[in-house]
Amino acid sequence: MSDVGIDAVEIWTGKLKLDLAETFAPEKGDDPAKYTKGLGLFESSFPDTYEDIVTMGANACKRLMERHDLSPDDVGRIDVATESSFDNSKPISTYIAGCLEQTFDGDFHHANKGERKFACVAGTQAIDDAYNWIRAGRNRGRSAIVVATDTALYARDDPGEATQGAGAVAMLVSEDPDLVTLSDAQGYGSADETDFLKPNQQFPSVDGKRSVQVYLARMREAVEDYESVAGDLHPDDFVYAPFHTPFPGMVRKAALLAYRHITRDTEIEEELADAIGMQPRREEFDDDEAFSEAVSAYTDDLKGTDRYAAWYDATIDPTLDISRRVGNWYTGSVHIARIAGLKRALSEGRDMTGERIFVASYGSGAQAEVHHETVQPGWDEEIAGLNIDEQVADRYDLTFEEYERVHAAHDHSKDRDFEEFTAPEDEFVFDGWGRMGERK
Ligand code: HMG
Repeated sequence: MSDVGIDAVEIWTGKLKLDLAETFAPEKGDDPAKYTKGLGLFESSFPDTYEDIVTMGANACKRLMERHDLSPDDVGRIDVATESSFDNSKPISTYIAGCLEQTFDGDFHHANKGERKFACVAGTQAIDDAYNWIRAGRNRGRSAIVVATDTALYARDDPGEATQGAGAVAMLVSEDPDLVTLSDAQGYGSADETDFLKPNQQFPSVDGKRSVQVYLARMREAVEDYESVAGDLHPDDFVYAPFHTPFPGMVRKAALLAYRHITRDTEIEEELADAIGMQPRREEFDDDEAFSEAVSAYTDDLKGTDRYAAWYDATIDPTLDISRRVGNWYTGSVHIARIAGLKRALSEGRDMTGERIFVASYGSGAQAEVHHETVQPGWDEEIAGLNIDEQVADRYDLTFEEYERVHAAHDHSKDRDFEEFTAPEDEFVFDGWGRMGERK
């Protein structure tokens, strides 16, 4: 059986930008450093009023198909991962296929379509579905398109408002892929949690501080589970480690946890022992609380070591380059982190072929998933073809007052206002329910 993985990728950012330090912080009466240093976010992307999860997803797919000269006959499956769906019956993939059929010769009648939901981890789950479909030999030589598309909006004045974002990532999953192959080995951490949920509501009910703790707890379980199948891990096994990135500050915490975990019983733990001691072992403590306090103290010390800082700068920091500028894209977030790492490698002229990437996905509600990927020889050409830097630079810079109008325009409980801030160009636009078209 040939290798299966991500063959091609395309990104579409919402075309508006909110500057968190210049525009958002002063209105909130906050120190801008809370956002830029604390959360690690500088800007968020928002959809213009003619954009939504369908248009962003369809526009990403259109670029993907055009860039790779694909026709509908090459695609046997379209899966959309989103937690921003406006339809409880018809999957968003059908709307996206409908858009694409306006542009490409042929149709997608033969393609299996669906929608995947498990908060932000659904993008990775949809890749898994495509992977399994191909590995089962049901694809008849065709590829799958997986789209992760979200408008990550919070209610006005919710603490999550600073972490909003909007955009889509389209990925082609194929045999013998050009970008990365996926490991069979996976680890999961999954539990019924209620820290972030949207039962019949557009904006999430969030216990933000608890959501951070739940992310860490499920991620620890997933890393342990992954290690139980992949064998002992070492930090140097992986050139990058993209994590689900609701904001870079969250990844700072998750990466530290993962590093502590995978350096246990390695020469790194021994080498650091003189400076910070050995990692606490459960059997050395009478109760869980004392153990957990000792782990926290060790983790704080670990964070201050040069060894950890060097690993973080090389393995994690590059994966945050896009997220810092666009905010949380929910299902797409870990997938832009992968791309950001590879983009950094390309800009540094590094050869990544054969290198391994540790991919850590997460979705509230809650589930973490960990696997690894191996970079393929065509990776550099694929990454070089992306125009995400131009898209990010071209976004319209909103004033706070304009941001308030854009937020209201995307609030499903309010009348939609079609004031436009940018001019659509050769792309799918939303003109009202049931009317979706390519505007030239
Ligand atoms: P908050 O109360 O506004 O912020 O909420 P804070 O007071 O906790 O400050 C944030 C950080 O900035 C802290 O850093 C502060 O110390 C620091 P930390 O101690 O955590 O390392 N800070 C400063 N640093 C420098 N200079 C300053 C300054 N002031 C403060 N002047 C919270 C933060 C994350 C709770 C909020 O943004 C929120 O509710 N976000 C939404 C929920 C979320 O993103 N949770 C993340 C985990 S769950 C997840 O990732 C899943 C998700 O993507 C959804 C899905 O799966 O579908 C959300």
